[in-house]
Amino acid sequence: MPVTIKSEEELNLMRKAGELLAQVHEEMHDVIRPGISTLEIDRIGEEAIRKRGGIPNCKDYEGYPASVCISVNDEVVHGIPKEDTILKEGDIVSLDTGLIYKGYHSDAARTWGVGNISEQAQKLIDVTEKSFFEGIKYAKAGNRLYDISKAIDAFIKPYGYGIVRELTGHGIGTELHEEPYIPNYRQFLKRGIKLEAGMTLCVEPMITMGKRKIAFLDDEWTVVTLDGSLAAHYENTIAITPSGEPEILTIIK
Ligand code: MF3
Ligand code: CO
Repeated sequence: MPVTIKSEEELNLMRKAGELLAQVHEEMHDVIRPGISTLEIDRIGEEAIRKRGGIPNCKDYEGYPASVCISVNDEVVHGIPKEDTILKEGDIVSLDTGLIYKGYHSDAARTWGVGNISEQAQKLIDVTEKSFFEGIKYAKAGNRLYDISKAIDAFIKPYGYGIVRELTGHGIGTELHEEPYIPNYRQFLKRGIKLEAGMTLCVEPMITMGKRKIAFLDDEWTVVTLDGSLAAHYENTIAITPSGEPEILTIIK
């Protein structure tokens, strides 16, 4: 499928889908504490989506069994919520979810600390979030897609962290995953498509404290770091604008 360019009408629906998702993330953030199960967070997230008139877009996606992907510590992405996965002080937890509103998708991820966390864990979370903002500085009409990838890579490199390569960001619209796919590491000899106003993209660095290699657990979903190091994930849905800065659709304005 080609990269889709959204009309102003479509962008308005994407804005609404994004705004609702930002509120959902806020509701989930508010309940993060030692002692809560990841299944409880999933229930709260699903309810927060549905009460706003959204449909969770993770649920049943290729058989994924929940509404929120919840990944704890060395889990990178796509962790499955469970009643007996109980968050404890010092954990870090990534919440990745999205919704459909009037046919249009939004998608965003956040990583939070549970209670007091180590300085190193907080730094990983902060640097991951910052790398998103460094990347989207290049998300401008006329630039090339992989300018974003290169900026994320260049920002992460000095910290010595790993950048997951097997999973990428993506276009989004009437489908959760549309072209183009957006790697978080530098592409050599390739510049990617030219960015145009009306493109809507999910930029989502997945960063590890140790080596970048990952493995899948036997549940066929959960992605973990091979070396057991912590991982963080930060994602927003953005729109390329006719001029200047991209518009971030999944934050509260
Ligand atoms: N929101 C995630 C993404 O960007 C996960 C999709 S739903 C899942 O791809 F089923 F894959 F978990
Ligand atoms: Co995504």
